[in-house]
Amino acid sequence: MNDPLVYLNGAYTPISEAKIPVLDRGFIFGDGIYEVIPVYGRKMFRADQHFARLFRSLASISIANPHSKEEWLQLIARVMEAHEAEDQMVYIQVTRGVAKRAHAFPKDPVQPTVFIMTNPITLPSDAVRAKGAACVSMEDKRWLRCEIKSISLLGNVLAAQNAAEHAVTESIQFRDGFLTEASSSNVWVIKDGVVAGPPKDNLILEGIRYGLMEELCKANDIPIVARRITREEVFAADEVLLSSATKEVLAVVSIDDQTIGKGQPGPIYQKLYAAYQQAKAASAR
Ligand code: PDD
Repeated sequence: MNDPLVYLNGAYTPISEAKIPVLDRGFIFGDGIYEVIPVYGRKMFRADQHFARLFRSLASISIANPHSKEEWLQLIARVMEAHEAEDQMVYIQVTRGVAKRAHAFPKDPVQPTVFIMTNPITLPSDAVRAKGAACVSMEDKRWLRCEIKSISLLGNVLAAQNAAEHAVTESIQFRDGFLTEASSSNVWVIKDGVVAGPPKDNLILEGIRYGLMEELCKANDIPIVARRITREEVFAADEVLLSSATKEVLAVVSIDDQTIGKGQPGPIYQKLYAAYQQAKAASAR
């Protein structure tokens, strides 16, 4: 599908015709938030959790939610239905809107800019899925409000580019010697059968899969904890995992060319990946 239908500020248009004014604060300041929702069999996976985060993101930067949940569902459904792919990834972006350039919020309220598009979901290749992902490490130099799903993603862009230049899947970031997250996924460390993730604080984005991992671990009797994790613990782990809308759950088998665990996707990864696929299948029914 070369020119899919998108939604922009009240109208559905082919993406090639969707235009925003140059004074949009998203363009000028990166002043906006976004959401990425995986879709399987034309049904959004974990929709309630994604909407809760969308509404939290809007509130966290004081943009009034422009739509009720029912309206959002209708807008997204139309864009989703127009696309030929069964499995998609819906992208939603809301910016503070168009105003004369001045850093503080516009004094007179302006309409937020609302954009929705969808693309076929791009999942990890079969080779990466089977062998596990190689990653590199880097210092986390982003700002201290990483819990906001902000469109200001320059730090994440540079981290992703660092991974691309090393021809690996992700850059795993550390702040002051402690694990934060990867450029666009959460990171999990497994030692002696216990899954650990960094605390849900301002240093990471709480992925929708963060909560899902907690649920899947509980359902499979796998202990899971949130705590600060040192760089040494990551390299000494039995298994390291990534989670995100597009990676689902993915095993990491090397970081900076150092082998993690046995250098292949491990048993807890296998269990969680199978449980993830079951949860997906149940939601698509
Ligand atoms: N990224 N941390 C960061 C910095 C992310 O960008 C993402 C997701 C996650 C995982 O969140 P979730 O489980 O809700 O996908 C963690 C999306 C996929 C993106 O920006 O495309």
